[in-house]
Amino acid sequence: MAPVDPCSFSSAARCVTRHLNLKLRVDFPRQVISGSVALTVEALEDRFNTLTLDSRDLTIVSVSANGQTAKFTTGPKHTFKGSPLEVTLPFDLNRGQQVVVQVVYETSPAAYALQWLSPAQTAGKKQPYLFSQCQAHHCRSMIPCQDTPSVKHTYYAQVSVPKDLVAVMSAMRDGQEVDPEDNSRIIYRFRQPVPMPSYLIAIVVGAMESREIGPRSRVWSEKELVDKAALEFSETELMLRTAEDLAGPYVWGQYDILVLPPSFPYGGMENPCLTFATPTLLAGDKSLSNVIAHEISHSWTGNLVTNKTWEHFWLNEGHTVYLERMIGRSMISEHFRQFKAMGGWKDLQDSVNTFGANNPLTNLVPSLQEVDPDDAFSSVPYEKGFALLYHLEELMGGPEVFMGFVKSYIQMFAYGSVTTDEWKNYLFTYFKDKVDILNKVDWNAWMFTPGMPPVKPQYDTTLADACIALSQRWIQAKDQDLSSFSESDLKTLSSHQVIEFLSLLLHEDPLPLTHVKRMQEVYDLNASMNSEIRSRWLRLCVRSRWEDAVPLAMKMATEQGRMKFTRPLFREVFNFDKYRDEALRMFQAHRAAMHPVTAGLVAKDLKVDASSTTSL
Ligand code: BES
Ligand code: ZN
Repeated sequence: MAPVDPCSFSSAARCVTRHLNLKLRVDFPRQVISGSVALTVEALEDRFNTLTLDSRDLTIVSVSANGQTAKFTTGPKHTFKGSPLEVTLPFDLNRGQQVVVQVVYETSPAAYALQWLSPAQTAGKKQPYLFSQCQAHHCRSMIPCQDTPSVKHTYYAQVSVPKDLVAVMSAMRDGQEVDPEDNSRIIYRFRQPVPMPSYLIAIVVGAMESREIGPRSRVWSEKELVDKAALEFSETELMLRTAEDLAGPYVWGQYDILVLPPSFPYGGMENPCLTFATPTLLAGDKSLSNVIAHEISHSWTGNLVTNKTWEHFWLNEGHTVYLERMIGRSMISEHFRQFKAMGGWKDLQDSVNTFGANNPLTNLVPSLQEVDPDDAFSSVPYEKGFALLYHLEELMGGPEVFMGFVKSYIQMFAYGSVTTDEWKNYLFTYFKDKVDILNKVDWNAWMFTPGMPPVKPQYDTTLADACIALSQRWIQAKDQDLSSFSESDLKTLSSHQVIEFLSLLLHEDPLPLTHVKRMQEVYDLNASMNSEIRSRWLRLCVRSRWEDAVPLAMKMATEQGRMKFTRPLFREVFNFDKYRDEALRMFQAHRAAMHPVTAGLVAKDLKVDASSTTSL
């Protein structure tokens, strides 16, 4: 029996989708996408005649199978899974036979996968903008489909948009033409010839431009940002080559980067052929480009070898962080990799503290029965996953040896979807001469036990020492020592080290207010426009109950919507008793303009009822 995906109604054991053919019309005034999807579905059993698709908040107009009208019903609405769309085929299929099921439908203006931005929410202020974010389980609110990462298919798409706008998708661009049905519109065509899961389908429509940044890469954004983005991401080709040296050939053809408007909820998203990136990466000095190394790495771990269900999400993210840091090792140094790994361990500690050390969601492999993947999201799959791989690297003989395994695992499972068991079996096969060592690993503690991992790696501290020393000086300083700090303390630190210095302080009890005020005097961190520095600094100030920092924290939480920053900033102000109502008021004021997933999670963080305007 194939494993079931607890987040999908459709059964990948009974049938699989091989191809999608999309014809979409993007309607900005109504905030809907309307059109059709034709799914080429292959039966995996005899007498197959009912197909279950995932859907959420869709209006289904009609369904046909090989051109014949088909009966359909939508089942009851589940809180986060949406509704099963049950299609009865007018004929039976035998195992191995295919059918083309066409669904004519329309999305809801509230579709979780989509954010519709008004012109005022864009950099150019003149045109509206639409973007999608399907991972983990939101594709079903944009397209009725088998919305599970255990199913992979190719796709072709034709998208009609107003002629002043440009459409891009997670695929190869395949030409454009004036819409024959409406000459005020253009149809953009796309093809994705590499099989991929539904969560990697992505679309953006807006007033975008692009610039070439490498032989297979362009950056896309509104024109106001395109030069800045081209500079920030100028190392892309070097990163791609470094990744290919480590992991094997890049199979997706193009590698473009799209810089989204500030409400994009993630740092980056590995949409094939077109990584999505938050504008908060534009620090001006390439210092946040590890996010691009991370998304590039997903081209192998995640997009080529995919987690079979979201319970095995660590296979995607743990291996990707491992590869991301191997790219850092090649392009910068082993010391740098060790430094980043140590920072990751602290991020893991933060997540374990936020969720609670007994929370089963801190398992490397959690059960997600009746758990919304968005609620389960944390650093755990990333950093517990990385820590396990690093531990195995040490046991098996170092980075070169272990990278040999990772490369071989990628080759073995390319174009497929895997479970943790399959990964582990392959690990034991690959290292068949070292099985005795592997048998000593406490697998149950690593994978199925909450809290921190059973083994703490000893990372090299060469680059961290200066951060540790400076943070200790601040922690131990009495008021009369504050004059010993000066601007020059930070002069020798890289921005990575400043981030680490602030992370270390966030791990301790709040500094006295006098200290953070002095820190502002000497370091002027209020002036920092590096988002990783600014968010940590403002959290530190709010924690020390510096009232002047509250409006700055709220400004950052609402001017951009990357959840990594927005959620902790809101939480920090919410936990400052005197400003709890201010956090709630700011949330209510901005809610309508926020991304639907971000708005939902901030509402939960602030204990605001998901739909009402009152605090619980
Ligand atoms: N695939 C993730 C983003 C994601 C995960 C979106 C789960 C929706 C559900 C992406 O690759 C990612 O991990 N981004 C990180 C980058 C960081 C780890 C370098 C981010 O957004 O900060
Ligand atoms: Zn990732």
